[in-house]
Amino acid sequence: MPSILLIGVTGLIGSHLVLALKEKHPELPVTVLVRNKTIDTYLSETAAVKRIVHGSFDEKDKIVALAKEHDIVINVGSSWDVPLSESIVEGLKQQPEGKKRTLIHMSGTGNFVDKRWVDGATHAEAKVWDDNNPEDMKLINPTMLNGGPDTVVLNHGKDGKTGTYIIYPSGVYGEAAGPIPAHGVIQFVYREKAKELGFVPYIGEGTAVFNSLHIKAVIPFVLQVLDLALKDATPQGSVYERCFLIGGTETKYKDIAEAFAEVLYNEGVIASPVAKSVDRKGAGEGELPMLMSSDMRFVSNRAKKLGYKNEEVSLVEYLRSKKSTK
Ligand SMILES: NC(=O)c1ccc[n+]([C@@H]2O[C@H](COP(=O)([O-])OP(=O)(O)OC[C@H]3O[C@@H](n4cnc5c(N)ncnc54)[C@H](OP(=O)(O)O)[C@@H]3O)[C@@H](O)[C@H]2O)c1
Repeated sequence: MPSILLIGVTGLIGSHLVLALKEKHPELPVTVLVRNKTIDTYLSETAAVKRIVHGSFDEKDKIVALAKEHDIVINVGSSWDVPLSESIVEGLKQQPEGKKRTLIHMSGTGNFVDKRWVDGATHAEAKVWDDNNPEDMKLINPTMLNGGPDTVVLNHGKDGKTGTYIIYPSGVYGEAAGPIPAHGVIQFVYREKAKELGFVPYIGEGTAVFNSLHIKAVIPFVLQVLDLALKDATPQGSVYERCFLIGGTETKYKDIAEAFAEVLYNEGVIASPVAKSVDRKGAGEGELPMLMSSDMRFVSNRAKKLGYKNEEVSLVEYLRSKKSTK
């Protein structure tokens, strides 16, 4: 049976994925690379992980050796860490000639914001990216938010020796599974920005749109991509035809900020439940101000052909349903 190396098992996405793998593919032996040394019993007994390797993304030799040993590498650990993806690719390249090998990489639609406008307002002319259009996917490059590792993965897949599959979810919300309460990237950056500013910001009129989806919509699709990789004896189509954009509701940043402000106020993170409009500079540094400044628009035509669907609650509904913990 093909072996899986899973990277990022304690994160929002990885914590659900490891349980889904146990449920859907109990026959596939899973190894995890994990730096947290406190959850080995949970991983082996509850999540049925076959092998636990403790280590960090900067341990290049360890990652190269692990990628060399496993048939399938699933990286839901970092869409930013270029050396991590380079180490994975180096290990895959060291596998015997002709052996089937697979890399499923989780990136993100933070690549696809239209930075021609950065005023926090929506613009009808904003580019709508289409995962079914290889010409769009060919525009992915290292200047994009997640474009560094994407480029490493895409270039690696071009000789056809490794089946590379890249999944681009939009903002992912929900609760982690298992003992580690990971917020995941987007919930984490909203929380940190609120702590930094003392309120939840949006930029200008806040009508620019953000796309997001619940963790429960992400996991079945990762399994569908895994099934595609398992089924195809050799990678089908070009590397650009193995890129999948998945999302859910398009929401105005103002509405998101208002919903986060209420939750973070209830949790005691900020002193007021009122979100505030700021200019771009007033939102400070980092990924969130970049995202909030512009529209993120895309369609999931290729992902839908593979079976992607989203029937989960929207981000605002999800946040409004969270109970007060204050
Ligand atoms: N959540 C989102 O909104 C979203 C949207 C689109 C794309 N993505 C992408 O999907 C992937 C997973 O997202 P997520 O939200 O599940 O992320 P997350 O909750 O932050 O989880 C990241 C995982 O990577 C591990 N990790 C991070 N740095 C590490 C290091 N130096 N060495 C070893 N392990 C390390 C973390 O381990 P520790 O527990 O030890 O920190 C954790 O298991 C990321 O690439 C992210 O960019 C996320």
